[in-house]
Amino acid sequence: MSPLRVWLIGFGTVGRWLAGALDTQAQRLASRFGCTVQVVGIANARDGFVYDAGGLNLRSALAAAAAGRPITAQPGARAWPTALDGLRATEADLLVEVTASPRSDAEPGLSHIREALRRGIPVVTANKWPVARHGAELAALARSRGVAFRAESTVMSGTPVLSTLTEGLAGAVPLGLRGVLNATANAILTQMADGTSYEQALAAAQRAGLAEPDPAADVEGWDTVAKVMILSALVFGRQLTLEQVTCRGITGVTGQQAREAAAAGQRIRHVATLEFAGPDGTGPDGTGPEGTGPKGAGPEASRAEASRVEGAGAVTARVQPETVPADDLLARIDGVANAVVCRARPVGEVTIIGPGAGPQLAGQGVLSDLIAVAGQRPAGP
Ligand SMILES: NC(=O)c1ccc[n+]([C@@H]2O[C@H](COP(=O)([O-])OP(=O)(O)OC[C@H]3O[C@@H](n4cnc5c(N)ncnc54)[C@H](OP(=O)(O)O)[C@@H]3O)[C@@H](O)[C@H]2O)c1
Repeated sequence: MSPLRVWLIGFGTVGRWLAGALDTQAQRLASRFGCTVQVVGIANARDGFVYDAGGLNLRSALAAAAAGRPITAQPGARAWPTALDGLRATEADLLVEVTASPRSDAEPGLSHIREALRRGIPVVTANKWPVARHGAELAALARSRGVAFRAESTVMSGTPVLSTLTEGLAGAVPLGLRGVLNATANAILTQMADGTSYEQALAAAQRAGLAEPDPAADVEGWDTVAKVMILSALVFGRQLTLEQVTCRGITGVTGQQAREAAAAGQRIRHVATLEFAGPDGTGPDGTGPEGTGPKGAGPEASRAEASRVEGAGAVTARVQPETVPADDLLARIDGVANAVVCRARPVGEVTIIGPGAGPQLAGQGVLSDLIAVAGQRPAGP
């Protein structure tokens, strides 16, 4: 079969990890998965888009990026000033979109993804906000063109959440889920269980390279909100707006609260909840929104109001610190571990636990999506 021609848009931590893996693991990918990959286009913000229909030299591009030289200076290759210009002017079989796009407008990732899908080219992305804000639209666009739209790394990085819930549970009716979906916030709360202050725990996470110098997205809850919106769009087929998700961060949790919860055998966790109920307030299986399991009476839980949106059924979507009892599985999710407990009919509860962060994990999630897309190609003559 002819090689899978890939555009790799975004050449930062994840994009470079993937390029390295595609280079060093080329033989294994071919023999184990029948997957031969040719990266024909690469782009970053600083240098623009570089393209070679015969395949770019990944080692050379990686060396240029590492040395701070323009990645567009590749022998025999053509260049365009922006990724969008390059995407419009060239051909490929798959877009890997791994730029970082903000919550405000999800750009430039959204435009890159739309451009590929409209042309009937499958997309794999690790970029959360385009999927969070437009996931249902993008999935529908992909379906209308008969191509794949995959975003495994956007939720729990390389731990397979989306593929498990959408493919492994294909045909089941998802009813709701709870989870701990941010490794940084969970590591901070775990450390605070011994009474360490929030500020000390955050500083330790930053020293360990776990929290960003600006940790706002993780500790204020927006990263988890994005994941709730992605799960809603891709697993439940319901697009949420930002306003529909109640968001409370962990910045108000004190060391004393965390220690008191631990002394009582409980834990404070930053819990994501997504529930769908019928128009009469009951879930499709006759259980109400409380059917997901114990709710916490944590520092903010008692004041928390779930976002409820009436229409063809109500949606409860929230991210907040909750005190969970010792027999709640989420109480045992410590450090950088994350977990999702999904309720589906007729299966019951399905729990996925795994590491929730790290560039290698994100790259691995992208690689698994890429292999899935390669496996769906029709066999050649
Ligand atoms: N790192 C992780 O652990 C992880 C985990 C899960 C998901 N993700 C998601 O994966 C994505 C990539 O993460 P990352 O850590 O690799 O981010 P990163 O290191 O900041 O890299 C982002 C890349 O996107 C490029 N870029 C930005 N705007 C662009 C544009 N208009 N056209 C072309 N390229 C553009 C940047 O170019 P320059 O190099 O010129 O700045 C950079 O190469 C993000 O959306 C992130 O949220 C990351």
